[in-house]
Amino acid sequence: MLSYQRSMGQYETPLSTVEYMVKTILQEIKQTPQPAHILDPSTGDGVFVRALIEAGVDPTYIHAYDIDPNVSLDVPDVQFIHQDFLTSKPQQVFDAIIGNPPYKSIRHSDYFKKNKQDLEKNFKEIGVHNLYTLFIYKGLQLLKEGGVLCMIVQDSFLTNVHYTKFRQYLIDHTEIIEIILAPRKLFHVGKADVRTAIITIRKGSPKPDHVMKLVDRLAAEEYNSPPAERVQYLQQSYFRMMPGSNFAINVPEEILSLFIKPEFTLADKVQGGTGISTGNDKQFLFRPWEVNEDDEEWIPFYKNGGIRDRWYYEPKYYIHKNWEKYSRAVPKFTVRNQKFFFREGITCSSMGIDFQASYLPKGSLFGVNTNLFTENEEELYYLLGLLNSNLTSYMLRKVLNRTNMITSGYVKKLPFIEPDPPLKSCISKQVKHIVSEKQKNLSYDPTIQQQNIDNSIFDVYRISPSNRVHVNNFCEQLIELL
Ligand SMILES: C[S@@+](CC[C@H](N)C(=O)[O-])C[C@H]1O[C@@H](n2cnc3c(N)ncnc32)[C@H](O)[C@@H]1O
Repeated sequence: MLSYQRSMGQYETPLSTVEYMVKTILQEIKQTPQPAHILDPSTGDGVFVRALIEAGVDPTYIHAYDIDPNVSLDVPDVQFIHQDFLTSKPQQVFDAIIGNPPYKSIRHSDYFKKNKQDLEKNFKEIGVHNLYTLFIYKGLQLLKEGGVLCMIVQDSFLTNVHYTKFRQYLIDHTEIIEIILAPRKLFHVGKADVRTAIITIRKGSPKPDHVMKLVDRLAAEEYNSPPAERVQYLQQSYFRMMPGSNFAINVPEEILSLFIKPEFTLADKVQGGTGISTGNDKQFLFRPWEVNEDDEEWIPFYKNGGIRDRWYYEPKYYIHKNWEKYSRAVPKFTVRNQKFFFREGITCSSMGIDFQASYLPKGSLFGVNTNLFTENEEELYYLLGLLNSNLTSYMLRKVLNRTNMITSGYVKKLPFIEPDPPLKSCISKQVKHIVSEKQKNLSYDPTIQQQNIDNSIFDVYRISPSNRVHVNNFCEQLIELL
């Protein structure tokens, strides 16, 4: 059972992070006529308010809200009220807004259930998915033109498909001054395991050549002096050109440019997607030891390979050949892409830190992970190599989708460059060799070939030597750097 505080999304922001955010907004509003009115819309224990006063802000110009009647802010002269920020209609506009709003997705929020209609009406421009994006949007409505907002929020808005409209709104209506991927363990002390970003934006149409400062995942709260290789200055117009207007942080322009009007994407080269969702795996799927694998009654069923299953693995599940007959009685049983059933193809992981792809043998069925089918065998093995390359991992996780859930919609957005025929054939043969060795001996170690394939894919996409190092480094430290 979550405490009331937890259920309202209360997590305390560490002090060095608060101090950096306060310093940032004060710096950014230096030019506005003083004194400036500053709002913390979700003040909690008042950590931002105290830091503002510490930094020299006159408390009478600080405004603070919290919805929780148990929150009390005993800081003299600050204009604190118990107020739901998202429905508030203050008499004035603010020069700056700062804070750590609640991060609550619709699915986990009673607040959403109670206020559904109003929220959907008032926030339809960005869509209602999570409280923190609503806080940013509402904050922008209450800022003066040229005013600055700095918030620490969950980083899901950067690439998740639900936040496309929100990203487009920010690109069109604000100048993104800075986005910093905060240290991974920032909120671990408070038992909250969330990846966060500090976003600083200025209200108003962006200048066409506006340059943002983007800071990659930091190891510690070293916001004032981040390591140079983690910092990128990039024109805001790049974000508009990314698929889904995705916010890619510290991705070299050479790699970003692959996504700008690519001649082909993977969608032009493959077909397929998800297959069977049984609605009740316990009823329909059987482990190899529960069936007679050699009996043709049982069909191999591939659903979500694990990290050791790259290239090839033996089926972990079987489904009975009369599944169709039994499925009619189960309303939740859904079937997609039936025309690819039993065909040779590629089966990808859908969940997990590492994205990986494996050979899908002829005669199999598949689940709700991504399953891809090509025109011919050479293409199949080439694409299997491409999907398992470091460059693909990097492009998927750093540009297309930062989460652990990579569905076929994201995979199909990968830019595709047709390799020279000899190189394509050479990569394809190497991959076929790995698969056939793994079929003979599952513990076969393909490390050397994997490196060759990685390098060949870098060649196909003409990636410079320094960016190859950057990509490989990211893949080696995926968990820390994501
Ligand atoms: C993540 S906590 C942040 C607390 C504090 N600012 C910090 O950083 O340590 C979010 C705060 O927002 C408050 N809150 C949640 N929904 C709110 C709403 N609709 N309007 C105003 N405050 C809200 C919660 O009660 C909680 O105190």
